[in-house]
Amino acid sequence: MNLILLGPPGAGKGTQASRLVKERGMVQLSTGDMLRAAVSAGTPVGIEAKSVMDAGKLVSDEIVNAILSERLDAPDARAGFILDGYPRTSAQAFALDAMLETKGMTLDHVIELEVDEDALTDRITGRFTCGTCGEGYHDRHKLPAVAGVCDVCGGTGFKRRPDDNADTVRTRMAEYRAKTAPIIPHYSQQGLVTRIDGMADMDTVAASIDMVLDG
Ligand code: AP5
Repeated sequence: MNLILLGPPGAGKGTQASRLVKERGMVQLSTGDMLRAAVSAGTPVGIEAKSVMDAGKLVSDEIVNAILSERLDAPDARAGFILDGYPRTSAQAFALDAMLETKGMTLDHVIELEVDEDALTDRITGRFTCGTCGEGYHDRHKLPAVAGVCDVCGGTGFKRRPDDNADTVRTRMAEYRAKTAPIIPHYSQQGLVTRIDGMADMDTVAASIDMVLDG
């Protein structure tokens, strides 16, 4: 089972992808996470990507297509993958078609999380993660059971993304509307798209996704 999770910043793609990893053993392929790892490691790609990401703009198709193609070649991707944050432009959608054909892979579903953009700034600016295991939290919607201690690993260091501020969020939303939303018809024409209400609570969104996957 291979799927794409589509939706604007803060729609819940990463939240639902990490749940699917835990519950179904699928592999989450987040180009945002791959780029942040490159930034942390100070690789040439990371150095080029950092200022673009901090501004909320999209990294070049050339860079992102290359890292995604390489990641799809890892053996674990054959167990079923969730694309989270890719493709984001028409050029990436066409590149993905070509990559999958070359690698003998297919897409089963494209799930579009429909959300109210006004609520997303609250979701994004309240988000933080455990610095040790990466578990995601939110200042209002999902706090650790014991303040300051990660529920999953007991870590006590938490971090926030530098692009999770109100100004950058506006640019990221504009990029989504201008460049990513227009690729949805590409997948609708193939009968792959299911729209899900991403404003429901996390468990309800999860149940709706499961209904699609279990068809
Ligand atoms: P990326 O890392 O992909 O970020 P994004 O698309 O902006 O998405 P987010 O991670 O912000 O949101 P999400 O939908 O995963 O929401 P989450 O589940 O965390 O990209 C970052 C940057 O990298 C881009 O701006 C770009 O520069 C670059 N980049 C990456 N891929 C690229 C590509 N393909 N091409 C070019 N550039 C690329 O949820 C958000 C919060 O809401 C969390 O706190 C969560 O707890 C909470 N929440 C989730 N669901 C619910 C719910 N149902 N109810 C209440 N709260 C909820």
